[in-house]
Amino acid sequence: MLKIGALVSGGGTNLQAIMDAVDSGDIDGKIVTVVSNRKDAYALERAKKNNIETAWISKKQFSSVDEYEDALIEHFKSRDVGLIVFAGFMVILTSKFTDAFKNKIINIHPSLIPSFCGQGFYGLKVHEAALEKGVKVTGATVHFVDSGADTGPIIAQKAVEVEEGDTPEILQKRVMEQAEWVIFPEAVRLFAEGKLIVENNIVRRVE
Ligand code: GAR
Repeated sequence: MLKIGALVSGGGTNLQAIMDAVDSGDIDGKIVTVVSNRKDAYALERAKKNNIETAWISKKQFSSVDEYEDALIEHFKSRDVGLIVFAGFMVILTSKFTDAFKNKIINIHPSLIPSFCGQGFYGLKVHEAALEKGVKVTGATVHFVDSGADTGPIIAQKAVEVEEGDTPEILQKRVMEQAEWVIFPEAVRLFAEGKLIVENNIVRRVE
């Protein structure tokens, strides 16, 4: 069975979607550890309620990014994880970390990549930018994580309509409900079943 590790920073609704899919048997795997860079992330409470090990590992605890990433790598390797999900994780890690788990890290991003992504585009900021631009359709993307910011191979995307009168908060909620909580667990399910192949930076789905 696939051992899954998670990195989180916030409320953890995406983590909840994965935990629910594991509990219902949709995902053939087990979340073995949830790590946050923020001590007060509600995602950690959600994990505890599900009897999953939690840890706080932050850059603040180390004198360099290198040492921080060494600690993260050690944490996940020692738990023998085969997949790491970035479930609302707001830190950009370097190639040191991403190379240690090549094609074994999946991120959820709240836009249709390559729109509104990369450095500075995270959480509510993504939806603010989409509304400022006046796009009529937005959505979410699940992708493998490489050493760039939101540049890795795309696994799945789902479009969501922008509606008249949307605020960033309203749009964020719609994107989560209609797209993120659907495609993220689905991508993890496919990964756990060995159905995602990466070739030349493109993800192919095999049956
Ligand atoms: C989600 O919308 C997620 O896609 C986004 O932050 C929110 C976290 O919510 N992630 C990023 O912006 C990553 N660059 P959650 O903690 O409730 O899952």
